[in-house]
Amino acid sequence: MKQIELFKEEDLPAVYELCRQVMIYDRFTETLLREKILEDPSYEAGLVLVVKDDDRIIGFMNGVMREINGSRIGYIKLMAVDERWRRQGVATQMYTYLEQELKNRKAEKIRIYDVPFNYFMPGIDPRYTAAVSFAEKQGFRRFADTCNMTVDLAGTDFSTTTQEEKLRKQNIVVRRAGYDDRQAILKFIDQYFPLWRTEVENSFLSLPISLHIALLKDEIRAFSAHNGNNFGTGWFGPMGTHPDLRGKGIGGILLKRCLQDIKDWGLPQSIIPWVGPVSFYARTVGAVVERVFWRYEKIF
Ligand SMILES: CC(C)(COP(=O)(O)OP(=O)(O)OC[C@H]1O[C@@H](n2cnc3c(N)ncnc32)[C@H](O)[C@@H]1OP(=O)(O)O)[C@@H](O)C(=O)NCCC(=O)NCCS
Repeated sequence: MKQIELFKEEDLPAVYELCRQVMIYDRFTETLLREKILEDPSYEAGLVLVVKDDDRIIGFMNGVMREINGSRIGYIKLMAVDERWRRQGVATQMYTYLEQELKNRKAEKIRIYDVPFNYFMPGIDPRYTAAVSFAEKQGFRRFADTCNMTVDLAGTDFSTTTQEEKLRKQNIVVRRAGYDDRQAILKFIDQYFPLWRTEVENSFLSLPISLHIALLKDEIRAFSAHNGNNFGTGWFGPMGTHPDLRGKGIGGILLKRCLQDIKDWGLPQSIIPWVGPVSFYARTVGAVVERVFWRYEKIF
């Protein structure tokens, strides 16, 4: 048995190197890993673990706690074990420690990867077969599937001028959010889409602000954001329209405005994660399902 240690900031380059090597279907950067670990709004040093062989990091597991719609849920956000140290109980050792820590924090269940508002992927990509086997061995049950879609941005016209003119005749104005809108937006989010507050707040860190809004008689009634999670990757979302205004094409316009931003930043594609209404995205902007994820949970 190896000794488990708590992750320290100076471990970041070595953990990045480990993730880069073992997560073969993903592209990591050190900045992205920092965002996942240290910039999580509920980051707790006691829930991020490494295992070392002499001084070399050979295992990593990142836990986090959230309160979601009144439930206390523990999450495993990322895990990686060096190829040479597989099937020797390294991940089990870290998981067993984290499960106890999460139970101590009154977790009612544990889920894997699908951590609302700061996640790398919304479940296990089943091509990581060892991770699927590992989850099942630890007593997790697959309870849902989800997917990420992608949109190729090159050569696509996301212009919305004509549609926006039509909406203006119904007193609906669509525009990019400004700093002065912040309070009103957060009030709208808190009322209708409270889980998405963090990602919407993060959109104010982009230049220009990566958030578009629709207003009916000067009141915010819909929004779409990008670059609120997995910064710099072309990550779209979240988006939401007030129930009274659905079916008017507002969501489609807001989506296209975000995609145009991402295109203007020079990225070749956008990722629409953790979907959701597949046909809406397929129909509106030609998005295609790119990756499927299996969602696992263990209820206590
Ligand atoms: C998933 C992972 C963290 C497991 O690490 P590990 O230290 O090898 O896991 P353990 O030794 O604790 O395995 C515990 C149990 O999980 C199951 N398991 C793990 N790897 C398995 C594999 N390749 N095939 C079948 N079962 C496997 C087994 O039941 C195993 O118990 P056993 O060896 O007694 O049969 C590791 O394979 C890894 O880093 N994979 C790449 C990264 C990854 O997939 N991340 C998730 C991205 S979605």
